[in-house]
Amino acid sequence: MLFQNALIENSTTTTCIRVENGRFAAIGPELTPNPGEEVVDLQSKLVLPPFIESHVHLDTCLTAGDPVWNMSGTLFEGIECWAKRKEKLSKADIKERVNRAVRMYATHGVQHIRTHVDVTDPSLVAMETMLELREELRELVDIQVVAFPQEGILSYPNGKQLMTDAVKMGADAVGAIPHFEFTREYSVESLNFALRLAAENDKLVDVHCDEIDDEASRGLETVAARALELGLFDKVTASHTTAMHSYNNAYVVRLMRLLKMSRINFVSNPLVNTHLQGRMDTYPKRRGVTRVKELTAEGLNVSFGQDDIFDPWYPMGVGNPRDVVFMGLHVCQMMGYQEIMDSYKFITTNAAKTLHLGEEYGIEVGRPASFVVMDAKNYYDALSANAVMLCSYRKGRKIAENVPASSKVLA
Ligand code: FE2
Repeated sequence: MLFQNALIENSTTTTCIRVENGRFAAIGPELTPNPGEEVVDLQSKLVLPPFIESHVHLDTCLTAGDPVWNMSGTLFEGIECWAKRKEKLSKADIKERVNRAVRMYATHGVQHIRTHVDVTDPSLVAMETMLELREELRELVDIQVVAFPQEGILSYPNGKQLMTDAVKMGADAVGAIPHFEFTREYSVESLNFALRLAAENDKLVDVHCDEIDDEASRGLETVAARALELGLFDKVTASHTTAMHSYNNAYVVRLMRLLKMSRINFVSNPLVNTHLQGRMDTYPKRRGVTRVKELTAEGLNVSFGQDDIFDPWYPMGVGNPRDVVFMGLHVCQMMGYQEIMDSYKFITTNAAKTLHLGEEYGIEVGRPASFVVMDAKNYYDALSANAVMLCSYRKGRKIAENVPASSKVLA
């Protein structure tokens, strides 16, 4: 199969792409169709590697308003709403919602998802179900599952054992939530435990780290120090790190040295943290998004995630990664021309590095022929005009498409 007239990753000259046996067989300016080969004219549209959701909670998705709406929109009322919804949690319920969410993601060109799954539940039903879904949904998406201790590791009964069990069941990554533990000592011990567990079992790490406006919340330095000392480096990701928004600059300068030595990844969730953080402030109200611009400038790897889709903590979301990039660029003040052009990397190549997709990702000969085509000529135009994702190819097979709506001015 031969694709002609592709503008790959903001290139200004068109390229041809040959796909054979589900992999990129050739990429070049002039490829001649072989006899009988199917030819697709991409009409000078933007071609990108598939989008990646690097941080979401699929086990809670699509539950907003069931059984009650979060009227204040706060994190704390969200927790109360979820406690009521959690009573109805079953394998069938999770499967029905996750299937719907993954299909929503597919229509927006997402082919890889890292989901955090709550394991502070003695039944571990959500973990068991998500591991089944990881297999059942392989045609549409690669799912990475993080064992996420929503209520803490040291601060929840049997927390260490539940984490260990989740890893044994087949979780891909180990989580932690240091800012939620009862004490600072528990916070440090929970991180020591989580990173050791990952090192011993050859797993990735993704910590909900300092998701609080407390400038004294300093889980991040422990995450980075253990990543360095255990040799885990970029297998480790710090998600949220919203407290860094409030750290004093002298501390950040000191911390930055360690972060660079540790080479850990960062995931920022600009939609949800702009919505939930700063709630204890009067005015001025903090944005509560980590220092994406500064981390990026220092050469650290940052991606953007959605975090929640239509659940008690975030009442919106359709699985379109464009939404997080759009909000992220605004709130992080990253709207210089080149910053906008490059911003697709927050939901593609940077996220691929975080998920350790390696040579199974990217538009290069020999790799799986997975890509999306946007109704625009470059990412600036795609973002600005909210361009439609025209089609999504996964391992050489078209798995989703959209037809742009047409509009007319009649006066
Ligand atoms: Fe999260």
